[in-house]
Amino acid sequence: MKNIYSNIFKFNKNTLSKTLKYLKRNNIVGLPTETVYGLAGNAYSKRSIQKIYSLKKRPKINPLIIHYYNLKSLSDDVEIGKNFLKLYKRLCPGPITFVMKKKKSSKICSLATANLNTVAVRFPSNKKTRAILSKLNFPLAIPSANKSAGISPVNAMDVAEEFKNKIKIIVDGGNSKIGIESTVIDLTERIVILRPGIISGKKISKILGRKVWIIKKHKKIKSPGALKKHYSPNIPMKLNQIKASKNHAFISFGKKHKNTKNTFNLSKKSNLDEAAKNLYKLFRKIKKLNYKKIYVAKIPNKGIGVAINDRLTHAAG
Ligand code: TXA
Ligand code: MG
Repeated sequence: MKNIYSNIFKFNKNTLSKTLKYLKRNNIVGLPTETVYGLAGNAYSKRSIQKIYSLKKRPKINPLIIHYYNLKSLSDDVEIGKNFLKLYKRLCPGPITFVMKKKKSSKICSLATANLNTVAVRFPSNKKTRAILSKLNFPLAIPSANKSAGISPVNAMDVAEEFKNKIKIIVDGGNSKIGIESTVIDLTERIVILRPGIISGKKISKILGRKVWIIKKHKKIKSPGALKKHYSPNIPMKLNQIKASKNHAFISFGKKHKNTKNTFNLSKKSNLDEAAKNLYKLFRKIKKLNYKKIYVAKIPNKGIGVAINDRLTHAAG
């Protein structure tokens, strides 16, 4: 059961009850989701939320996503509208986050929403994390389990390496199925995608039968996390390249490029879903190997490729 990290636990009855106890005492745990791993804490508790911000060294202006088990508990905290219900029926639980109006009576800690009058809400599909959510009488704030602006973790070991023994429980859920963060969509005014993900604007637009906008440049902070350098291995990165000199890492896609020692292929089969799953894994690997520069091949900008290119653009600064 124990890994080289003694805080990584296989999911079983024992782990479940220990995790629930921890969360009820307003402690923070590492949890798997279908997108990336997160740091979870009681969204109604100021103490939990403060711990999350401090562990992540996250700027207080950047709000967290609040994770629920289902609709029942949600209606206490947010104004539920027609568009949301349509999307919920078709896509949840799953990799999509909805920004909605916060109710005045909401119990969500105001620090978790950076004092905004909106809340970002998500229903993760990972079975282990759902089992945990189903047994709590509060929702969980779960940002990605990385230090602010760093690379999101896609397995339990990534989380352990990032926070060492500062977190006492990390629930092992294997590799994240999708590998990049959820689609974030704002439903409060015009319908706008704030952060692209595996669920595309096209799909959302089809379900709603109306136009969905995609955010380009932020005038006001709408999704603060999407603003600055982000998702980054903190190594200079150049996009849309055809090769790299042999001292630098080259992230390739498909079979077009030569397979040298410094080449890291996102998907030999040119499969974009596989590429998304490999993106953060390769970032971490390249960082560990101490490369000082990363060149990246052109990635097709369709399907989840849009989200991959979004993360690459942010990582490149
Ligand atoms: O897939 C995911 O969404 C993962 C897993 C763990 O669930 N979580 C995640 O959380 O990516 P985080 O904190 O790394 O990213 C949350 C994003 C940030 O860009 C933040 O600015 C935005 O959601 N956000 C949160 N609340 C918001 C709000 N009220 N209005 C607009 N954007 C918001
Ligand atoms: Mg994040």
